[in-house]
Amino acid sequence: MKLLAIAALLPTLALAAPAPVTLAERSSVGLSPDVVNTWAPLAQYATAAYCGGAVWSWSCGGPCDAVAQPAVLAQGGDAKATPYFYVANNGSHIIVSISGTNTRSIQSLADDLEFNFTTPSGSYFPGADGVQVHHGFYNTFTRVAGTVGPVVQNAVNAGATQVIVTGHSLGSAVGHLTATYLQNLLGTSATVYARLFASPRVGNQAWADYVDATLGDRAQHMINYNDLVPTLPPRSFGFRQSSNEVWIANAAGTSYVACPGQESTSCQDSMNLTADIESFVEYLDFGAHSGPYAGVKVTSAACA
Ligand SMILES: *[C@@H]1O[C@H](CO)[C@@H](O)[C@H](O)[C@H]1NC(C)=O
Ligand SMILES: *[C@@H]1O[C@H](CO)[C@@H](O)[C@H](O)[C@H]1NC(C)=O
Ligand SMILES: *[C@@H]1O[C@H](CO)[C@@H](O)[C@H](O)[C@H]1NC(C)=O
Repeated sequence: MKLLAIAALLPTLALAAPAPVTLAERSSVGLSPDVVNTWAPLAQYATAAYCGGAVWSWSCGGPCDAVAQPAVLAQGGDAKATPYFYVANNGSHIIVSISGTNTRSIQSLADDLEFNFTTPSGSYFPGADGVQVHHGFYNTFTRVAGTVGPVVQNAVNAGATQVIVTGHSLGSAVGHLTATYLQNLLGTSATVYARLFASPRVGNQAWADYVDATLGDRAQHMINYNDLVPTLPPRSFGFRQSSNEVWIANAAGTSYVACPGQESTSCQDSMNLTADIESFVEYLDFGAHSGPYAGVKVTSAACA
């Protein structure tokens, strides 16, 4: 019932909402097509990460053709222990993009399935008292950060001031860690944004609060309707999403709702979805997990 009520309100809210949306007073707000469309190039950048080394020449097929060719500064990962990722400069922004799980790699899947917590190093996250994060996501992050940190720092030293981190699935979880780390690393010399797709939960309550304190509403994550991945690991294990969910609120993918705060019952939590570890693995390759997000399917199948 609640879901229907929200969906029914959307056309009015979508028309009324100015861009960019401020969320302070309302539990959710419908997004106008103009705001939704700002996510489309990010979804293309996120998809291109799945294409590995093809991004060097920006010849990865559909996702590369959809956006102007950026200067690629670094590319890494092996789609096994470490997902493919790259760093690029599109002229105004440094783009950091991290791909998701390769479901054909046992090593890659193992990253997702280590549901235990670890305490992250204060060298990445100073002052993060009580913060605990997903062991597998954190280990993956440390490998990605080893390349991405110095490359982005160099670009900022050379004059860049805007950094956007994007990614899908596992790459979205690692993206939350990477964006928060990069803002700490760069301090006031650059502004870091995160626009992430289909993120699992990354850490505990203290972690979600730390992300919010570091990035505020510059960190936003989009969830497609009934995708199970963002419901994992479960809240009952102590995991919690950081704030600023953008939820695709119907199966047709025509309504987009933004929710301030963490774990809003006006966004995907309203569906009371539950999932177990087996369905997580089976789910990664199909269904709502790949979108479309702002009209873009985020999947390795898009790579030419
Ligand atoms: C670079 O990408 C960002 C994110 O999509 C976009 O806002 C910006 O306009 C792009 N810059 C150029 C010069 O195209
Ligand atoms: C988490 O689990 C993995 C594998 O099951 C193990 O190697 C690691 O030591 C565990 N981490 C903690 C903090 O218990
Ligand atoms: C989810 O659970 C809440 C609290 O039990 C309930 O009010 C709500 O109707 C449920 N939503 C759905 C879609 O089942």
